[in-house]
Amino acid sequence: MSLKDVLHWRYAPKRMTGAAVPEEHIEAILKAAQYAPTSMGLQPFTMILIRNREMVERIRPIAYNQPQVSEASHLLVFASYSVLTEAHIDKYLQNICATRGVTMESLDAFRRSMLRFMENSSDEAIRVWAEHQTYLALGFAIAEAALLNVDVTPMEGFDPVQLDQLLGLQEKGLRSTALLAIGYRDAENDFLAHEKKVRRSLDELVIRICG
Ligand SMILES: Cc1cc2nc3c(=O)[nH]c(=O)nc-3n(C[C@H](O)[C@H](O)[C@H](O)COP(=O)(O)O)c2cc1C
Repeated sequence: MSLKDVLHWRYAPKRMTGAAVPEEHIEAILKAAQYAPTSMGLQPFTMILIRNREMVERIRPIAYNQPQVSEASHLLVFASYSVLTEAHIDKYLQNICATRGVTMESLDAFRRSMLRFMENSSDEAIRVWAEHQTYLALGFAIAEAALLNVDVTPMEGFDPVQLDQLLGLQEKGLRSTALLAIGYRDAENDFLAHEKKVRRSLDELVIRICG
């Protein structure tokens, strides 16, 4: 099926069956997020993959008791960098050197431009910038899941302060941004399972300046 077809098939389930998603599909979903484009290629986010039942039960109340949290097979937390440091930039540059066989010196102008961006941006601007990149990765994960006929619910309905505390994210320089419940829809019990998609028309959504 094409991406267009699966985007019509997919929806954000409110209820899931609890059935396990094969590990190779989970890895493919993680890889899709890994290969999402990001600003300057810095990938300022981390994903926390949760399968542990005890942890999931502790997260459910933090996510306002939404059933899909514990009915999912896996829960993926997308967490954004809360700070960008010189160490992040240098680690990225070392990765470029190792991957492409280029010297650190050849990346000097790029390094300086990233440092300038870091130094000229407020903490709040960095937080928002990092979240933008995280949402792109979330979108890629959602699309890959649909191509695999795996259901996912992207979720912002949770208390990020409590989740950060539970997962010790602050100490890691991270802030939880979104959850992705990964599983299979419970078509019998989910009132949304057979509903039509509601979308603004392209006429409304697009302003065309085309000659
Ligand atoms: C960033 C984001 C956050 C969302 N948060 C929640 C949520 O907390 N709980 C939920 O059930 N659905 C959540 N949704 C799902 C949306 O309600 C859903 O995607 C939207 O209504 C469009 O419907 P569809 O995805 O089923 O086509 C979220 C979606 C996105 C993209």
